[in-house]
Amino acid sequence: MSVRRTRKHIPMKVLIIGGGGREHALAWKAAQSPLVEEVLVAPGNAGTASEPGVRNVNVAAEDLAGLLELAREQAVELTIVGPEVPLAAGVVDLFSEHGLKCFGPTKDAAQLESSKAFAKEFMARHGIPTAAYAVAESVEDGMRQARAIGFPLVLKADGLAAGKGVVIVEDEHQAENVLTDMLSGHAFGEAGRQVVIEEFLVGEEASFIVLADGEQAVPLASSQDHKRRDEGDLGPNTGGMGAYSPAPVVSAQLHEQLINEVIAPALRGMARDGHRFTGFLYAGVMLTSSGPKVLEFNVRFGDPETQPILMRLNSDLIAVVLQVLDGRIDQVRLDWDPRTALGIVVAAGGYPGQYARGRPISGLDLVAPGHVKVFHAGTRLADADIVTSGGRVLCVTALGETVAQAQARALEWTARIGFEDAFYRRDIGHRAIRRG
Ligand code: AMP
Ligand code: GLY
Repeated sequence: MSVRRTRKHIPMKVLIIGGGGREHALAWKAAQSPLVEEVLVAPGNAGTASEPGVRNVNVAAEDLAGLLELAREQAVELTIVGPEVPLAAGVVDLFSEHGLKCFGPTKDAAQLESSKAFAKEFMARHGIPTAAYAVAESVEDGMRQARAIGFPLVLKADGLAAGKGVVIVEDEHQAENVLTDMLSGHAFGEAGRQVVIEEFLVGEEASFIVLADGEQAVPLASSQDHKRRDEGDLGPNTGGMGAYSPAPVVSAQLHEQLINEVIAPALRGMARDGHRFTGFLYAGVMLTSSGPKVLEFNVRFGDPETQPILMRLNSDLIAVVLQVLDGRIDQVRLDWDPRTALGIVVAAGGYPGQYARGRPISGLDLVAPGHVKVFHAGTRLADADIVTSGGRVLCVTALGETVAQAQARALEWTARIGFEDAFYRRDIGHRAIRRG
């Protein structure tokens, strides 16, 4: 593939902010770009530490001043932000003030994710289809709204809660408990000052992620994640237990519909409201019998969707991001591997609740075949060992001619890697497999 060399100082240094599975995939992909001399990851994990062309730097993803200093000191020419927390804290605003290229939305634009109440009001105002809702700040008011909406319904803590601030409630008793818990500030702190109460939607979910330059969008390949902890999509919500791409449920017609009814009005609305949106825009949608409805917007790439999506991307990610940032989004052409990629998250026992850390992981020294990639999430180096350091520990991702083959390959490799109390779902991709 040819890469146009339009910059003076190449190859360049790229900084990836974050330390999870998404960031390992971003760093791995960035390091393959002929435009890149070195990829820095702040803070990274044990996977990025051993990736060729990649170096971890011990600066936390939330340490904005430290990140700025790092980028200036190392003459970083492009920064890509993985997680939502630094975006919501204004890392893009800070980098721009210092003339540094940083791919992601500003703090104001990041409210699409950092406040569920903001997102719902925005969608209502701009005619973007979403579940009926109300916002409450007291248990009493919340209960009144809940009765009006009817059960089951969904309660969402307003702010960032790492995928754990969403509870489906079946009856009044449970609603009262969850509302009390959320509004007390104990479970979610500031994030729980307001609660969004939503109509319960039935259907299949899909993740639709685009690259946006403030006005236009280039869609990435479709994907679907599995947010529930247990097989059969049961149990509590997590950050995501696995994902695959493409998601056959997103037909060409649905793709058009999502662009026209969700992405285009969202970008237009944000620009009109004075918060032009640049970066990865992620719409989590429920495909209901009355059409697609937005469950949530994320203002960043999904985790674990990034891992299978980037495994299928043949194009140079860094060249593409530079085209988007430099006002050349019209020139972006994405080339995808036609195969399916499927990633299985290996998690620590107890996740999404309490779990142990520091467990040695075995099997990571095995050399995986070319169609398998083990992305690290919550791992770190402890002397010579790689040990667990988070709830989602690895994402074993495989390419296959069919979803079933990708799943079988990922499962086969997952079985060779382990640590005490590890668990994973054996049914990632089940809907696509059933669809045939
Ligand atoms: P969110 O963080 O808002 O995407 O919610 C996390 C997960 O909760 C979603 O991926 C859905 O599985 C589920 N969920 C959220 N909102 C609704 C809803 N209104 N109806 C049914 N399920 C929902
Ligand atoms: N996989 C969903 C997320 O990144 O929030």
